[in-house]
Amino acid sequence: MSALLDSLLSASKADVLADSAKYWNPDKVRAWAARGTPLVIGRREGYHLYDMSGHRLIDLHLNGGTYNLGHRNPEIIAELKEALDHFDMGNHHFPAIGRAALAKKLVETAPANMRYAVLSSGGGEAIDIGLKCARYGTKRRKIVSIEKAYHGHTGLALGTADGRYADQFMSAGRPDEFVKVPFNDLAAMEAALASGDAACVIMETIPATYGFPMPADGYLPAVKALCEKYGSLYVADEVQTGLMRCGSGHLWGITGYGVTPDIIVTSKGLSGGLYPIGAVITNAAGGGWLNEDGWGHISTFGGSELGCVAALKTLEITLRPETIANVDAVAAKLRAGLDAIRARHPFFTGIRQRGVIFGLEFNGHPQGGKIVMRELYAKGIWAIFSQLDQRVLQFKPGLLLTPADCDEILERTAAGIAAAAASF
Ligand SMILES: Cc1ncc(COP(=O)(O)O)c(C=O)c1O
Repeated sequence: MSALLDSLLSASKADVLADSAKYWNPDKVRAWAARGTPLVIGRREGYHLYDMSGHRLIDLHLNGGTYNLGHRNPEIIAELKEALDHFDMGNHHFPAIGRAALAKKLVETAPANMRYAVLSSGGGEAIDIGLKCARYGTKRRKIVSIEKAYHGHTGLALGTADGRYADQFMSAGRPDEFVKVPFNDLAAMEAALASGDAACVIMETIPATYGFPMPADGYLPAVKALCEKYGSLYVADEVQTGLMRCGSGHLWGITGYGVTPDIIVTSKGLSGGLYPIGAVITNAAGGGWLNEDGWGHISTFGGSELGCVAALKTLEITLRPETIANVDAVAAKLRAGLDAIRARHPFFTGIRQRGVIFGLEFNGHPQGGKIVMRELYAKGIWAIFSQLDQRVLQFKPGLLLTPADCDEILERTAAGIAAAAASF
């Protein structure tokens, strides 16, 4: 082992916490301690995380789907290790083997209207690219998003976000440029679009940070129809809902609702959890600038060649028939088990679900999701509360879980929820 790695791996948890509090992010260190989840991830393997103390956790947070295929997926690691003998990040100004192959794969596996894929270094950057494409394609500035939206912390993305994220940096979008409407409210959406000056609507197919409220029947197709009526583009943020998480064989959650978007944004899981990358898949209108001014968006790390290898392998594994079938099996098994747990606990008030996306509602307490998070942590389950609706616990199982993994998840979840009863 190298001297550097040896010294890193011999650090104690107390040292890491002390240095993190001093040099990295004091508030985060304090907040996780106060919440009873003082995690510093040491070993990680498959769907298991180990706190540096040795405490083992099954990961049902997955960093929003980053670890869809597990931590340190051996197939992706093997591919990346070999790739390191041939590639580095590459030079973003030039065409490259990996970029060409990944862009082709993303366009070929997307709805037929899609024409180009623009590659980024992460999700926020990809959102900004998607919004720029919409502005380019329509020659309009206004961007419509939902209240309680979260699309990342970059410039335009932050303009679409809830004030919780934007205000301290004076980054809330100008109200004439960034309009927010309640989710599932078609009349408000039409009012925002009817003036005919909106470049786009940007929405997550199921808004993650808001606790995965499910779109009402017909809502998403109706929003798309309004976009068409008023000449706006539909930007689907599939950073959390894409890459098969919605199940039923839909690589992108939005197509499962019968909607063909104009622009799709992806990241997180596209990286295989091993090398950062994001992408925007766009139709010809949004991507027209790629034909006129190829330097219209420049990003040194965007579409790094190693990231492209990780993404190509990730897509290959995700699109296998056995993976597709497994997602639906995991979704059904966990749903049945969660229904049984819910029947025993009146404070477990509801289950929101689409595929392997779950929002567990604990409505009896304004921070119900946070309370249950702490109890589950003690029982060996890592699942995170929803920042913008803290009654809800996000519960995000991986695509490759086995039936035995599901049994263990349900057993530990049942114990954690039972332990939370006293707090309600
Ligand atoms: C739905 C959604 N969009 C965009 C982003 C931004 O991605 P990143 O953190 O890679 O910038 C996130 C991150 O959590 C997200 O959840």
